[in-house]
Amino acid sequence: MTGRGLFITLEGGDGSGKSTQAALLESWLQESDRVVLRTREPGGTDFGAEVREIVLHSTGHISPRAEALLYAADRAHHISTKVRPAIERGDVVIQDRYLDSSVAYQGAGRVLDADEIRGLSLWAAEGLLPDVTILLDLDEQVARGRLDSARSRFDRLENEKSEFHGRVRAAFLELARAEPARFLVLDATLPVERLAALIRGRIEPLLASSIDAGSDAS
Ligand code: TYD
Repeated sequence: MTGRGLFITLEGGDGSGKSTQAALLESWLQESDRVVLRTREPGGTDFGAEVREIVLHSTGHISPRAEALLYAADRAHHISTKVRPAIERGDVVIQDRYLDSSVAYQGAGRVLDADEIRGLSLWAAEGLLPDVTILLDLDEQVARGRLDSARSRFDRLENEKSEFHGRVRAAFLELARAEPARFLVLDATLPVERLAALIRGRIEPLLASSIDAGSDAS
Protein backbone atom coordinates (compact mmCIF):
# COMPACT_ATOMS: atom_id res chain seq x y z
CA MET A 1 0.00 0.00 0.00
CA THR A 2 1.13 3.55 -0.68
CA GLY A 3 -0.49 5.45 2.18
CA ARG A 4 -3.70 7.42 1.80
CA GLY A 5 -3.50 8.86 -1.69
CA LEU A 6 -3.35 7.10 -5.02
CA PHE A 7 -0.30 6.48 -7.18
CA ILE A 8 -1.08 5.97 -10.88
CA THR A 9 1.63 5.46 -13.48
CA LEU A 10 1.40 5.47 -17.28
CA GLU A 11 3.76 3.33 -19.30
CA GLY A 12 4.33 2.46 -22.91
CA GLY A 13 6.64 3.09 -25.81
CA ASP A 14 7.48 6.53 -27.15
CA GLY A 15 4.51 7.88 -29.12
CA SER A 16 1.91 5.72 -27.33
CA GLY A 17 -0.15 8.70 -26.13
CA LYS A 18 0.66 8.67 -22.39
CA SER A 19 0.82 12.44 -22.03
CA THR A 20 -2.58 12.93 -23.67
CA GLN A 21 -4.17 10.38 -21.35
CA ALA A 22 -2.41 11.81 -18.29
CA ALA A 23 -3.83 15.25 -19.08
CA LEU A 24 -7.37 13.91 -19.61
CA LEU A 25 -7.25 11.91 -16.38
CA GLU A 26 -5.98 14.95 -14.49
CA SER A 27 -8.87 17.13 -15.76
CA TRP A 28 -11.44 14.48 -14.85
CA LEU A 29 -10.05 14.09 -11.31
CA GLN A 30 -9.92 17.85 -10.80
CA GLU A 31 -13.59 18.11 -11.78
CA SER A 32 -14.36 15.96 -8.75
CA ASP A 33 -12.14 18.19 -6.57
CA ARG A 34 -9.27 15.79 -6.14
CA VAL A 35 -5.85 17.32 -5.62
CA VAL A 36 -3.67 15.96 -8.41
CA LEU A 37 0.07 15.94 -8.90
CA ARG A 38 0.87 15.30 -12.55
CA THR A 39 4.51 14.53 -12.95
CA ARG A 40 6.98 12.51 -14.99
CA GLU A 41 10.27 10.66 -15.01
CA PRO A 42 12.84 11.57 -15.93
CA GLY A 43 12.63 15.27 -15.07
CA GLY A 44 9.94 15.70 -12.40
CA THR A 45 12.17 17.94 -10.22
CA ASP A 46 14.77 20.67 -10.88
CA PHE A 47 17.51 18.13 -10.23
CA GLY A 48 15.68 15.65 -12.45
CA ALA A 49 15.50 18.20 -15.28
CA GLU A 50 19.30 18.32 -15.27
CA VAL A 51 19.53 14.52 -15.25
CA ARG A 52 16.97 14.37 -18.07
CA GLU A 53 19.06 16.69 -20.20
CA ILE A 54 22.11 14.43 -19.74
CA VAL A 55 20.36 11.12 -20.21
CA LEU A 56 18.26 12.15 -23.23
CA HIS A 57 20.40 14.72 -24.99
CA SER A 58 24.03 14.05 -24.15
CA THR A 59 25.85 13.59 -27.45
CA GLY A 60 28.55 11.16 -26.28
CA HIS A 61 28.13 7.48 -25.44
CA ILE A 62 26.66 6.64 -22.01
CA SER A 63 27.32 3.08 -20.83
CA PRO A 64 24.16 1.04 -20.06
CA ARG A 65 24.84 0.84 -16.31
CA ALA A 66 25.58 4.55 -16.10
CA GLU A 67 22.29 5.20 -17.92
CA ALA A 68 20.43 2.94 -15.47
CA LEU A 69 21.99 4.81 -12.54
CA LEU A 70 21.02 8.20 -13.99
CA TYR A 71 17.36 7.15 -14.24
CA ALA A 72 17.60 5.72 -10.72
CA ALA A 73 19.10 8.97 -9.37
CA ASP A 74 16.29 10.98 -10.94
CA ARG A 75 13.77 8.53 -9.42
CA ALA A 76 15.25 8.56 -5.92
CA HIS A 77 15.08 12.34 -5.67
CA HIS A 78 11.68 12.65 -7.35
CA ILE A 79 9.97 10.05 -5.19
CA SER A 80 11.39 11.28 -1.91
CA THR A 81 10.84 15.00 -2.48
CA LYS A 82 7.60 15.13 -4.51
CA VAL A 83 5.72 11.88 -4.99
CA ARG A 84 5.77 10.29 -1.56
CA PRO A 85 4.85 13.54 0.24
CA ALA A 86 1.90 14.00 -2.18
CA ILE A 87 0.64 10.46 -1.58
CA GLU A 88 0.97 10.94 2.16
CA ARG A 89 -1.13 14.12 1.92
CA GLY A 90 -3.88 12.08 0.24
CA ASP A 91 -3.36 13.46 -3.27
CA VAL A 92 -3.63 11.55 -6.52
CA VAL A 93 -0.31 11.26 -8.34
CA ILE A 94 -0.44 10.73 -12.11
CA GLN A 95 3.03 9.91 -13.29
CA ASP A 96 4.29 9.56 -16.84
CA ARG A 97 6.78 6.63 -16.61
CA TYR A 98 8.22 4.91 -13.55
CA LEU A 99 10.21 1.79 -12.70
CA ASP A 100 8.60 -0.37 -15.38
CA SER A 101 10.24 1.94 -17.96
CA SER A 102 13.62 1.16 -16.43
CA VAL A 103 12.99 -2.59 -16.57
CA ALA A 104 11.80 -2.31 -20.19
CA TYR A 105 14.34 0.18 -21.57
CA GLN A 106 17.48 -0.50 -19.51
CA GLY A 107 16.64 -4.18 -18.88
CA ALA A 108 15.26 -5.45 -22.20
CA GLY A 109 16.43 -2.52 -24.37
CA ARG A 110 20.02 -2.25 -23.13
CA VAL A 111 20.06 -5.92 -22.12
CA LEU A 112 20.80 -5.51 -18.44
CA ASP A 113 19.43 -7.98 -15.91
CA ALA A 114 15.73 -7.20 -15.37
CA ASP A 115 15.70 -8.24 -11.71
CA GLU A 116 18.75 -6.13 -10.94
CA ILE A 117 17.21 -3.11 -12.66
CA ARG A 118 13.95 -3.57 -10.76
CA GLY A 119 15.92 -3.97 -7.52
CA LEU A 120 17.88 -0.80 -8.23
CA SER A 121 14.66 1.16 -8.85
CA LEU A 122 13.00 -0.19 -5.73
CA TRP A 123 16.06 0.72 -3.70
CA ALA A 124 16.00 4.23 -5.19
CA ALA A 125 12.29 4.62 -4.45
CA GLU A 126 12.39 2.93 -1.03
CA GLY A 127 10.07 0.19 -2.26
CA LEU A 128 7.25 2.36 -3.57
CA LEU A 129 5.06 0.58 -6.13
CA PRO A 130 2.14 2.15 -8.03
CA ASP A 131 -1.46 1.31 -7.11
CA VAL A 132 -2.31 1.16 -10.81
CA THR A 133 -0.18 1.13 -13.95
CA ILE A 134 -1.79 1.91 -17.29
CA LEU A 135 0.14 0.33 -20.15
CA LEU A 136 -0.62 1.89 -23.54
CA ASP A 137 0.48 -0.88 -25.84
CA LEU A 138 1.46 0.03 -29.38
CA ASP A 139 3.30 -1.71 -32.20
CA GLU A 140 6.75 -0.11 -32.45
CA GLN A 141 6.40 0.63 -36.19
CA VAL A 142 3.12 2.46 -35.62
CA ALA A 143 4.72 4.36 -32.74
CA ARG A 144 7.61 5.38 -34.97
CA GLY A 145 5.19 6.67 -37.59
CA ARG A 146 3.45 8.80 -34.97
CA LEU A 147 6.75 10.23 -33.74
CA ASP A 148 8.00 10.95 -37.27
CA SER A 149 4.98 13.09 -38.00
CA ALA A 150 5.11 14.91 -34.63
CA ARG A 151 8.82 15.64 -34.12
CA SER A 152 11.83 17.08 -35.87
CA ARG A 153 14.35 15.98 -33.20
CA PHE A 154 14.63 12.64 -31.42
CA ASP A 155 16.20 11.87 -28.07
CA ARG A 156 18.85 9.19 -27.42
CA LEU A 157 16.27 6.49 -26.68
CA GLU A 158 13.91 7.39 -29.51
CA ASN A 159 16.87 7.16 -31.88
CA GLU A 160 17.34 3.48 -31.08
CA LYS A 161 16.53 0.92 -33.76
CA SER A 162 13.22 -0.84 -34.25
CA GLU A 163 14.55 -4.06 -32.61
CA PHE A 164 15.29 -2.11 -29.42
CA HIS A 165 11.73 -0.77 -29.31
CA GLY A 166 10.37 -4.23 -30.09
CA ARG A 167 12.19 -5.61 -27.03
CA VAL A 168 10.88 -2.72 -24.93
CA ARG A 169 7.30 -3.43 -25.99
CA ALA A 170 7.63 -7.16 -25.26
CA ALA A 171 9.11 -6.40 -21.84
CA PHE A 172 6.21 -4.11 -20.91
CA LEU A 173 3.72 -6.83 -21.87
CA GLU A 174 5.66 -9.39 -19.85
CA LEU A 175 5.66 -7.10 -16.80
CA ALA A 176 1.90 -6.68 -17.16
CA ARG A 177 1.40 -10.46 -17.36
CA ALA A 178 3.44 -10.91 -14.19
CA GLU A 179 1.37 -8.38 -12.19
CA PRO A 180 -2.17 -8.43 -13.60
CA ALA A 181 -3.67 -6.81 -10.50
CA ARG A 182 -1.53 -3.69 -10.90
CA PHE A 183 -1.63 -3.31 -14.69
CA LEU A 184 -4.38 -2.22 -17.07
CA VAL A 185 -3.20 -2.97 -20.61
CA LEU A 186 -4.89 -0.96 -23.35
CA ASP A 187 -4.58 -0.97 -27.12
CA ALA A 188 -3.13 2.49 -27.82
CA THR A 189 -4.70 2.56 -31.31
CA LEU A 190 -8.17 2.96 -29.76
CA PRO A 191 -9.70 6.44 -30.04
CA VAL A 192 -8.45 8.89 -27.41
CA GLU A 193 -11.86 9.28 -25.74
CA ARG A 194 -12.41 5.53 -25.59
CA LEU A 195 -9.04 5.05 -23.89
CA ALA A 196 -9.83 7.85 -21.44
CA ALA A 197 -13.13 6.18 -20.52
CA LEU A 198 -11.44 2.81 -19.94
CA ILE A 199 -8.87 4.46 -17.70
CA ARG A 200 -11.55 6.29 -15.72
CA GLY A 201 -13.38 2.98 -15.28
CA ARG A 202 -10.27 1.45 -13.70
CA ILE A 203 -9.54 4.43 -11.42
CA GLU A 204 -13.03 5.32 -10.22
CA PRO A 205 -13.53 2.41 -7.77
CA LEU A 206 -10.16 3.17 -6.18
CA LEU A 207 -11.00 6.79 -5.42
CA ALA A 208 -13.53 5.90 -2.77
CA SER A 209 -10.93 3.98 -0.79
CA SER A 210 -8.34 6.75 -0.89
CA ILE A 211 -8.95 9.80 1.25
CA ASP A 212 -9.89 12.89 -0.73
CA ALA A 213 -8.27 16.24 -0.05
CA GLY A 214 -11.49 17.74 1.29
CA SER A 215 -11.82 15.29 4.17
CA ASP A 216 -8.12 15.34 4.93
CA ALA A 217 -8.15 18.65 6.80
CA SER A 218 -9.22 17.34 10.22
P1 TYD B 1 9.48 10.51 -22.07
O1 TYD B 1 9.52 11.63 -21.10
O2 TYD B 1 8.26 9.67 -22.12
O3 TYD B 1 9.84 11.05 -23.52
P2 TYD B 1 9.13 12.21 -24.33
O4 TYD B 1 9.05 13.43 -23.46
O5 TYD B 1 10.10 12.36 -25.46
O6 TYD B 1 7.80 11.68 -24.72
O7 TYD B 1 10.69 9.53 -21.76
C1 TYD B 1 11.97 9.85 -22.10
C2 TYD B 1 12.73 8.62 -22.52
O8 TYD B 1 13.36 8.02 -21.39
C3 TYD B 1 11.88 7.55 -23.17
O9 TYD B 1 12.49 7.23 -24.42
C4 TYD B 1 12.00 6.36 -22.25
C5 TYD B 1 13.24 6.63 -21.47
N1 TYD B 1 13.26 6.07 -20.10
C6 TYD B 1 14.14 5.03 -19.81
O10 TYD B 1 14.87 4.55 -20.68
N2 TYD B 1 14.19 4.55 -18.53
C7 TYD B 1 13.43 5.05 -17.52
O11 TYD B 1 13.51 4.59 -16.36
C8 TYD B 1 12.52 6.12 -17.85
C9 TYD B 1 11.67 6.72 -16.77
C10 TYD B 1 12.46 6.60 -19.15
